[in-house]
Amino acid sequence: QTATWDLEAAQKGGYPHFMLKEIHEQPTAFHNTVSPRIVDGLPNFACDKICDEDLRRFERVVVVACGTAMHSGYVGQYLIERLARLPVTVEIASEFRYKNPILNRDKDLVIIVSQSGETADTLAALRLAKKQGVFVLGIVNVVGSSIAREADAVIYTWAGPEIAVASTKAYTVQISVMYLLAIKFAMLRGFADEAFAREYTSNLMSVEEHIAEILKDSQSFQFYASKLQNAHDLFYLGRGLDYALAMEGSLKLKEITYIHSEAYAAGELKHGPISLIVDGTPVIALGTQKSLFEKMASNIKEVKSRGACVFLICDDTCENTAQIADFVIKLPALPEIFMPLLSVAPLQLLAYYTSILRGCDVDKPRNLAKSVTVE
Ligand code: G6P
Repeated sequence: QTATWDLEAAQKGGYPHFMLKEIHEQPTAFHNTVSPRIVDGLPNFACDKICDEDLRRFERVVVVACGTAMHSGYVGQYLIERLARLPVTVEIASEFRYKNPILNRDKDLVIIVSQSGETADTLAALRLAKKQGVFVLGIVNVVGSSIAREADAVIYTWAGPEIAVASTKAYTVQISVMYLLAIKFAMLRGFADEAFAREYTSNLMSVEEHIAEILKDSQSFQFYASKLQNAHDLFYLGRGLDYALAMEGSLKLKEITYIHSEAYAAGELKHGPISLIVDGTPVIALGTQKSLFEKMASNIKEVKSRGACVFLICDDTCENTAQIADFVIKLPALPEIFMPLLSVAPLQLLAYYTSILRGCDVDKPRNLAKSVTVE
């Protein structure tokens, strides 16, 4: 493994915990990952030695990963299917490797996502795909790691070292690569012209500033965390891209606060989980997808009428939010497709401050390891 980071970057740099430091490094990590891959306003993977011809032939994408890296795959699935009309499946590495997966060596692209590049199940999934002759693209943060070495092509995420067990900046850069891949595939497949792609990349580049702005307001997140700290059960609800983010928000919270939490696609609520909503149950409702907001609002009303305490995350153009939610976290408004890049930091900060208030070991939560190199 080649070390490309200096010692100073591996220190806490004035922050009380690595996790908080890494949350705050997201604007830079995002910039370092995205900007080299936008050339003349268009997506370009020349720096990764990947040309258009390498990507044109694929008719299906299979994302394989574990944990947070897998959650980035769900964001990728929504983006690539929506923009490029290219079917995407997301697989848990430890399931994929033992199920004799159906792969087509001529038409499938396997994307392996891993911060460390060393997760045992993910690496085994890579080897299995390669053995079947399928082209494997790695999205990896650690230069020279096993997955980076063994993949047919690698897109490095430039998050720098991530020390806290709970992954934060690595997720943000993993999904930012998904944004780039989605627009690249959309262009290659004739679903996006240059004008569309330029507008898209310009929106994408604006994310850096918006994240920095969101991170300035630590006080409100401390306040919201004080409302969550004594909870026993928490629910994260969303539709579309918000559902993908709900999964990651829920994982972050349970990892570092030890509060039980679950993410549900809001429309699935009626099929079971709503029976768990009682007076005072906190519900984090993600409502950043404008086209789905009305449906989301009616789900919020359903949980509210059963006594839930609702925290709504939406953009700042959303009206009458005080009528449906107890607490509202407003984000700068971008076209809905980009909102996951803005809602991730609030979810991380909620988990972080809740963990602090509960006196947990934020950077090293019990029973968890940063890199799971055993099966
Ligand atoms: C562990 C870590 C998670 C991480 C997952 C996958 O569970 O605690 O934060 O998402 O492994 O790790 P990888 O290095 O493959 O992204």
